[in-house]
Amino acid sequence: MKAIEIRNKYLEFFKKYNHSVIPSAPLIPENDPSVLFNTAGMQPLVPYLLGEKHPAGTRLCDYQKCVRTNDIEEVGDNRHLTFFEMLGNWSLGDYFKDESIKMSYEFLTKELEIPAEKISVTCFAGDDDCPKDTESAEAWKKAGIPEERIYFYGKDDNWWIAGEEGPCGPDTEMFYDTGKPACGPDCQPSCDCGKYVEIWNNVFMEYFKDKNGYRKLKNKNVDTGLGLERMTMLLQGKETPFDTELFKPVMDKLEELQKVDSIESRRIIAEHLRSSMMITCDGGRPSNVDRGYILRRLIRRMIRHMNKIQIDLNELSTLIDINVETLKEMYPDLEKNKDVIKEVIIAEKNKFVKTLNHGEREFEKQIKKLEGTKIVPGKVVFRLYDRYERI
Ligand code: SER
Repeated sequence: MKAIEIRNKYLEFFKKYNHSVIPSAPLIPENDPSVLFNTAGMQPLVPYLLGEKHPAGTRLCDYQKCVRTNDIEEVGDNRHLTFFEMLGNWSLGDYFKDESIKMSYEFLTKELEIPAEKISVTCFAGDDDCPKDTESAEAWKKAGIPEERIYFYGKDDNWWIAGEEGPCGPDTEMFYDTGKPACGPDCQPSCDCGKYVEIWNNVFMEYFKDKNGYRKLKNKNVDTGLGLERMTMLLQGKETPFDTELFKPVMDKLEELQKVDSIESRRIIAEHLRSSMMITCDGGRPSNVDRGYILRRLIRRMIRHMNKIQIDLNELSTLIDINVETLKEMYPDLEKNKDVIKEVIIAEKNKFVKTLNHGEREFEKQIKKLEGTKIVPGKVVFRLYDRYERI
């Protein structure tokens, strides 16, 4: 199943259960200066999770573009992405645990046809702030998950909050068993070995946390998030999102263009290019601060890896064209804004090339000055790093 089909199936399914489809918010939050990018589907909905009335009702669903950059250094492995799409459904004081779990189970097993025996779930184990979530566990049993595939974990695994303060609550997470052998007798969904992959997270948001602790929200809400790239990869039996139709065309082109073989660099280039295009498309511009700096970092890291595997930087324009073709059905704005996207990314590339050339000249100058000594002073190293390499 292609990513767009999964997205469409999701929206249709929740429409059938009386959810209004709301539009994806831009990546750059409109009314929330506390975050640089939308990092989750719930972000644009915070006022409504806190009790404000949403014009589209109490049952909502959408697909939301998200950027998370805390794991930027991990991109290049087989799973981390900075840009991803999150499918979400919400209850704003409407249904709660029972119905939410029933719908999730039905969507996974009936619509996506995931064999029930491949699904394990986790629930909150309880602590001083909030009791054990036996209600969710019971709902899972009723839906069809046997007790031995229901696990309980503490706040580290089964509690969700965006940042330090805000609406939050216990969550129940669904895991897909890839069929890989267990890493040991204690292998569980919380394990990092790759056997279990988290596919969906239903947060039961009935608390608000601030510096004084937890208090109950006005409503009992549900906030769910399903990562589209990951689900696409699993349903297609692929090892990484880079092997799905979302990345394949650009990955193939990179393989054709590279003169030095590195799968890690190809993934970094493909991922950072897609992310930079999406951010630029939503109005982001490279700069030295905040979100502009993140965009700059993404573009420059991509360029560094293009240099590393010796891809002519003039190919950037072709790579952008390929990505627009690949993604325009899912994100039509990419095609509309293609010229601006190209202009911004290529201008940043040119700027960076200049910086790198300066850096190289400066490096050679410094090395010449040091002739006869074996030690490069820390001051010189720091200056070179700070001015030219800190990306
Ligand atoms: N907010 C939760 C998450 O990001 C569920 O949508 O996982």
